[in-house]
Amino acid sequence: MPQPPVTRRDALRGLAVVAAGLAAACDAAPVPPEAVVPLADLAAGRRVRVLVGGKPVEVVSDAGAIHARYLVCTHMGCLVTWHEDRERYVCACHDGLFTRSGRPVGGPATEPLVEVPFTLEAGEVVFRRPGGA
Ligand code: FES
Repeated sequence: MPQPPVTRRDALRGLAVVAAGLAAACDAAPVPPEAVVPLADLAAGRRVRVLVGGKPVEVVSDAGAIHARYLVCTHMGCLVTWHEDRERYVCACHDGLFTRSGRPVGGPATEPLVEVPFTLEAGEVVFRRPGGA
């Protein structure tokens, strides 16, 4: 029995179905996290560093809450480090000082250290790219 000829419209419809299937498959594919920190690693006030978006992030548990913030000075982008003896984040570039919560209290910076969004999943602090699953 002869098959009817395939029209251009039939071919385009078939391509649309394939494209929709591929898009659905891509949406469903799990996106691996950029960084994961087990909550157990934050015990006793330990500070853990990870990279998120190529920038250093410090994760710490403070007064029962988890905080994650970029270790990047909001003045001109130098690295800040935590100094336990001073109870301050210190930026060596221009003597910037930030409190435990990231609020600027010295030097030229006027904006707080930037908090990094995360989710808590099965006992881990998980960082994903915006738009990722
Ligand atoms: S870059 Fe940090 S105080 Fe200027």
